[in-house]
Amino acid sequence: MAHLLKAALKIENAFHEYRMGISTRGLYGFAPGDWSHEEHIYYGTVPFRGIFRILDFLDLKNTDVVVDLGCGKGRVLCCAAMYSVQQVIGVDDTRDLCDVALNNLRRLSRKRAPAAVIHGKAEQFDYSLGTVFYLFHPFGPNTLRSVISRMSIGLRQIPRLARLAYVNPRHDSVLKDTGVLERYEHWAHQTPQSRFVCYPVSFWRFRI
Ligand SMILES: C[S@@+](CC[C@H](N)C(=O)[O-])C[C@H]1O[C@@H](n2cnc3c(N)ncnc32)[C@H](O)[C@@H]1O
Repeated sequence: MAHLLKAALKIENAFHEYRMGISTRGLYGFAPGDWSHEEHIYYGTVPFRGIFRILDFLDLKNTDVVVDLGCGKGRVLCCAAMYSVQQVIGVDDTRDLCDVALNNLRRLSRKRAPAAVIHGKAEQFDYSLGTVFYLFHPFGPNTLRSVISRMSIGLRQIPRLARLAYVNPRHDSVLKDTGVLERYEHWAHQTPQSRFVCYPVSFWRFRI
């Protein structure tokens, strides 16, 4: 049954890519399972159906600025740019992936929101912008800690409601220990909610 679902999602992914005019499939970077690079995870993504499910759950508004930290080839950016949000921003520290993401955004049909890609490290990003942060397990606990600390500074400078969707939340405990976030939703693995994401997902909001 799981094999059938995977095969169906693969076909559906190809359909979405064709419909949107983009190319985001395949892995890039370190080999899967090579955890010696725990602080920098290779590129991979989740099925479109799962991404749309997460974005729908987030109930995006036209005031939202969606930031994908470790945007890779830009699948999430392209999906988010199809919603009526204020802006979509992707950050990735791998130049080749940023180029692919930018190219995908240029080709994306049905774009409704302005989108940008920034080549750089998430732990050095300027967090004065952003209301929804998407992370698909992009980095390890040390980087995550620095990222949340910078986000908190950005949120103190310009106070606003901010949420975080964490796919494959291997370091949820890091988020909990920061004391500035509360987990308001969790989709456990292989439940109806997470089935199309293929990973658990946790949703956090900054305490204000
Ligand atoms: C698992 S992929 C997620 C891709 C994308 N968010 C998606 O869901 O389609 C992780 C990405 O994070 C990027 N990355 C890892 N460490 C990073 C860092 N410190 N700053 C910026 N990007 C990073 C990698 O280059 C890779 O593209």
